[in-house]
Amino acid sequence: DNLTIVDHPLIQHKLTILRDKTTSTAQFRQVIREVAFVLGCEVTQDLKLKEVEIETPIEKMTAPYLEGKKLCFVSILRAGNGLLDGLLDLIPSARVGHVGIYRDHETLEAHRYYFKTPDKLGERLVVLVDPMLATGNTAIDAANELKKAGAKAMKFLCLVAAPEGVEKFSAAHPDVPIITAALDRQLNDVGYIMPGLGDAGDRIYG
Ligand code: PRP
Repeated sequence: DNLTIVDHPLIQHKLTILRDKTTSTAQFRQVIREVAFVLGCEVTQDLKLKEVEIETPIEKMTAPYLEGKKLCFVSILRAGNGLLDGLLDLIPSARVGHVGIYRDHETLEAHRYYFKTPDKLGERLVVLVDPMLATGNTAIDAANELKKAGAKAMKFLCLVAAPEGVEKFSAAHPDVPIITAALDRQLNDVGYIMPGLGDAGDRIYG
C-alpha cells in the first residue's frame, strides 16, 4: 500500500494538541517540531546500512553505519518548515531543498514561486515535507518538479491528509509512498481538511 498512517501514541497525543484551536502559536510551533521528530523515525526506517570497523574503549568491533548519500528533505513553504525543524533535530546532516508554493484561494490550483534543491538528488532519498495534503495539487506539483530535477527515490511526509488528496497524489505519483499522522474525513467546499487543524502556515507563523 502507498499510505502509511503513523499511530504512535506520542504522535496521536501531540496531533490532538495541534488540532485544538486554543493552542497558541508558540506551543503549535514547538509541538509540530516534536511530532516531526517521531515522523522522521518512521520515514527513515528503511535507510540502508553498511558495516564499519570501529573501536569501543574496550575492543574492536564492526558496527552498522548509514551508507550512501545523505538524505534530502524538501520543505514546501511555508508550512513545511514547521516539520523541517524537527526533522533536522533528528538528522542534522541531511541536505535541504525548498519549494515555494501557495494555493489560489478560488481555484485551489498550486502556484509555484520558488524552487531550490541540493545537487545529486537522484542519489539521495528525497523526503518531501508538508503538514497538509488537501486537494493534493501542491504536493503533486512539487513532486513533478523534483522528478524533473532528477529525484528518483522519494517519499511524501505529512501530518494530516484528506482522502481526496491521497487518491489524487497516489494516482499522479504511484511510486511515492505517503506517510501521515492522520487520514481525516474529507475536504470542505473551500478546500480545507475536516476536521483538520486549520491553515497550518497561519498557525505556525501567524
Ligand atoms: C497549504 C498547505 C499545503 C497546501 C495543501 O498551503 O500548507 O502546502 O495548502 O493544499 P493542497 O493539497 O490542496 O494543494 P498554503 O497555500 O496555505 O500556503 P502557505 O503554507 O504558504 O500559507
